[in-house]
Amino acid sequence: MTGGGKPPRGQPAPADPVVSSFVSTRPAPTTIRPTDDVVCAVRGLTKTYPAVRARRGTPGTPAVRATDGVRLDIRRGEIFGLLGPNGAGKTTLVRQLTGLMRPDSGSVEILGHDIVRHPERAACILAYLGQESTALDELTVALAAETTARLRGLDAGRARAERDAVLDELGLAPIAGRPLKKLSGGQRRLACFATALVGERPLLVLDEPTTGMDPVARRAVWSAVDRRRAERGTTVLLVTHNVIEAETVLDRVAVLDQGRIIACDTPAGLKEQVAGEVRVELVWRVKAPLDVPEVAALHDRAAESGRRWTLRLAPEEARTVVATVTGGAAFAALDDFTLATPSLEDVYLALGGAARQGLVKA
Ligand SMILES: Nc1ncnc2c1ncn2[C@@H]1O[C@H](COP(=O)(O)OP(=O)(O)O)[C@@H](O)[C@H]1O
Ligand SMILES: [Mg+2]
Repeated sequence: MTGGGKPPRGQPAPADPVVSSFVSTRPAPTTIRPTDDVVCAVRGLTKTYPAVRARRGTPGTPAVRATDGVRLDIRRGEIFGLLGPNGAGKTTLVRQLTGLMRPDSGSVEILGHDIVRHPERAACILAYLGQESTALDELTVALAAETTARLRGLDAGRARAERDAVLDELGLAPIAGRPLKKLSGGQRRLACFATALVGERPLLVLDEPTTGMDPVARRAVWSAVDRRRAERGTTVLLVTHNVIEAETVLDRVAVLDQGRIIACDTPAGLKEQVAGEVRVELVWRVKAPLDVPEVAALHDRAAESGRRWTLRLAPEEARTVVATVTGGAAFAALDDFTLATPSLEDVYLALGGAARQGLVKA
């Protein structure tokens, strides 16, 4: 899609004064001023899901504090990420930000609106792509986009124009006439993403938007997000459990673990926390040769996942380990090894998120 094919973006959206004041051509978030450009301020956000008592046949579940005193500032025009493993509390957090769930305590202010007190205002200032599929499933791709645009206050003509522009932009035109429920998971996800984009909101909240998508669709998502940020100053809150995605598209990232923010910085800034360390991965053919003393000595320090050992070491140590496993008696048992600079996953593990599981690398 080209810029020329779109309806005129500069026109104010009469139904929603907030939107028009946020149509901005400011390019990148490098010039952000500290406080007055905060789009979303979260303080002390806490939510506990109550315990469920056991019934015949179904075991009970204990209470879960899914968000625990979360504090966040999201600035205008940035792509801000929430990164954490499954169950970290990411979805619970964004559902509270979008007014869909009431926190037990804490505050959420978005563009000056108190979302805890006035959750109904959220729909006018942000677009939310939930993790689960939606009520739009019965509609065709085109109708889902057009209906959403109408619900967001566009007149019929503009709604159709936006629909066409967005479907074109995301490569969805060929399947525009098909009902969402008959699409593949990745296609449906992309169609839902399209509905999040129509009717232009200054804040986009996307909960794992690229789940199930092929690389072409993923790229379409990221360039659509980037274009909105560059051309209109749209702010994006992106939830992901995927480290690679996080490293490539996010300006800043908050790492969530068991309902708490354990770090918040740029991906580069976070990685500096573990700079000087090297990740060594050893993959054994069958199992580790623990009868080799040097290998046995490493065992305690390795995170094990099947035949794979992962170690975080000082560069000097890493060299010694590689020399040991490639030179001596251990070599016959070795299938593969890699040496790498730290990733966000290493940051996550170094911060103590290690206790249970790592993040997804895909
Ligand atoms: N509706 C619910 N009732 C009870 N517990 C829930 C509910 N939704 C989520 N949880 C629990 O809250 C925690 C956080 O879940 P969630 O916010 O979905 O995490 P994430 O999106 O990071 O995977 C998990 O332990 C999950 O099992
Ligand atoms: Mg989730």
